[in-house]
Amino acid sequence: MTTPISHPFYFDCDTGIDDALALAYLLASLQADVRGIGTVSGNVSAAVGARNTLDLLQLAGHAHIPVALGAHDPQTGTFRGGAPHVHGANGIGEVSLEAAGAGLAQETAAEMLVRLAHEHPGTLRVLAIGPLTNIAEALRLEPELPRLVEEITIMGGAALAPGNITAVAEANIANDPEAATDVLAADWNITLVPLDVTMSNVLEESHRQELLAAGHPVPQALGEMLGYYFRFYEGIFGRACSAMHDPLAAALAVGGVKAAVAPVVQVDVDTTDGPGRGQTVCDLRGLYMDYPEQPGARCRVVLSLEGDFAPHLVATLLSFSESTTAAVAVGAAVA
Ligand code: BDR
Ligand code: CA
Repeated sequence: MTTPISHPFYFDCDTGIDDALALAYLLASLQADVRGIGTVSGNVSAAVGARNTLDLLQLAGHAHIPVALGAHDPQTGTFRGGAPHVHGANGIGEVSLEAAGAGLAQETAAEMLVRLAHEHPGTLRVLAIGPLTNIAEALRLEPELPRLVEEITIMGGAALAPGNITAVAEANIANDPEAATDVLAADWNITLVPLDVTMSNVLEESHRQELLAAGHPVPQALGEMLGYYFRFYEGIFGRACSAMHDPLAAALAVGGVKAAVAPVVQVDVDTTDGPGRGQTVCDLRGLYMDYPEQPGARCRVVLSLEGDFAPHLVATLLSFSESTTAAVAVGAAVA
């Protein structure tokens, strides 16, 4: 049996329930070595997201991973208060975690990304699952960033699917369309994981029950958070279940799942003030000829997966139960 290659990762998030799932997935994955985490305002403020991230890291026995505070406001305008109706007022479904002892890093999220890119030239992977404000800022700080980063995976956008914050726009892109424009225009290997694939791979109540029954506080806390998330998605799917936006992007970034249809196409972001603001305009005109090469295009847009994602996600999260890294009593850690 060959040992999987572990890739150094910078993780940018707006922690958030599905961000918490993605973080736990990365920590459990043998293919990811998370070297630093930056937060950005999105589901919650960057500061609340950082607190949630620190608390989750402690619960998972990874308190040594540095967390840097990122942008509070998007490039244009101001943070508008997040999505408490989706993620709860505290961002993690009103679940209370024991407060982490660790504090924030002495650098911004963008500075952390630039530093890690120089420390791991050509091998650093970036996973961005919130608005792209920090990543755009890092590109301004270090124009060579695309050359230093092996690849960037982004949860965001909607190619052929409807939007989730307006008729056409997905939340991460809509929360900072100007930053998304800068990031998608940079010359690096980009994989975009849009709503097309994250809304068609769902987690069911049976999966949540498996997490709740685990003998480890991390999957148990995630199962509790998902109770809140499922209530929001009941209004969309008509049953207790949820989309899997951020953990799916994490799994694609580490190679835990593979894309089936993922054409490399031109993607532009609508930054007008009209009804299209935040839309990812993906040039999918090659659909009828199995997506022939598009000269100049650089963004791989994942439209479907090989296989079923939910069992893989649950199995990976349940692997915490086999680890001894966080021997914390469930009752003491998860209030
Ligand atoms: C994306 O927006 C956020 O609410 C989620 O965490 C996810 O990253 C889905 O549109
Ligand atoms: Ca997110």
